[in-house]
Amino acid sequence: MIAKVRKAVFPAAGLGTRFLPATKAMPKEMLPLVDKPLIQYGVEEAIQSGVQNIIIVTGRGKSAIEDHFDVSFELEDLLERKQKADLLRQVRGVSDMIEVAYIRQKEALGLGHAVLRARNLVGPEPFAVVLSDDVIDAEVPCLHQLLDCYAYFGASVVALMEVPREQISAYGVVDAEPVDHNGTKNRLYRIRNMVEKPKAEHAPSNLAIIGRYVLVPEIFESITQIQPGAGGEIQLTDALKHLLRSRPIYGYRFEGRRFDAGDKLGFLKATVEFALRRPDLGSSFREYLKQLAL
Ligand code: G1P
Repeated sequence: MIAKVRKAVFPAAGLGTRFLPATKAMPKEMLPLVDKPLIQYGVEEAIQSGVQNIIIVTGRGKSAIEDHFDVSFELEDLLERKQKADLLRQVRGVSDMIEVAYIRQKEALGLGHAVLRARNLVGPEPFAVVLSDDVIDAEVPCLHQLLDCYAYFGASVVALMEVPREQISAYGVVDAEPVDHNGTKNRLYRIRNMVEKPKAEHAPSNLAIIGRYVLVPEIFESITQIQPGAGGEIQLTDALKHLLRSRPIYGYRFEGRRFDAGDKLGFLKATVEFALRRPDLGSSFREYLKQLAL
């Protein structure tokens, strides 16, 4: 029987250097897209995908994340007294939403290293990894799409997206062959090999790994077996490549739009698009943008 995925790991110990100076004293995961911090989008995606146990790997200066998912008595009391029922519901919703555990990553030694920190909290079961920089707008949540593949094959699945050549060196890139699945072609791939941040001329394809993974627990052992790779960091991609020696890994070219919200331009694009779609803001924001006469 294929075990159910109950837990999602959110690596959140990175230094956020792409977003300095905003991230000097504030975790990048707390940057708000319209009015919700980035990490909350990821957490809501996990919940909508049926994964309720959240494990956040934090580091120094990340206590705002813990406070965000905690109960704020003062705030709730104030909103109650002022009869702001709607805001109270939203604020309570965040802390009621999840079962959350935190573990520290003392040094930012790479994504693989961050995931390994969650080993004891995850235990011997399959789990998801969500990178909250990657905000994905999709009818069926991206993680849900991967979980459907996992439920079918019982093997690890990573999210894939086609990326232009000139940007490919910013990603983990796969060498993969398409597999027909549920009547769809060119969505599901069986991965043959992968490489973290290759030079464009060495990239095995234009299929990049995006920050959603469903992993079998054997990945932890693989992480312990690898050496530092790109950027001198313990890379999750290198651990997956190690895992490939003994287990199949699939890639799923998900349906939906992904924003790289860890990048300033990507963040701005996401902000504009998410604001335009908001029932309470969309029409006045659209009017404002129109009169900018760009
Ligand atoms: C990480 C992963 C990379 C993946 C990317 C997706 O890189 O290491 O394989 O393609 O996320 O966003 P980072 O963006 O942290 O450099």
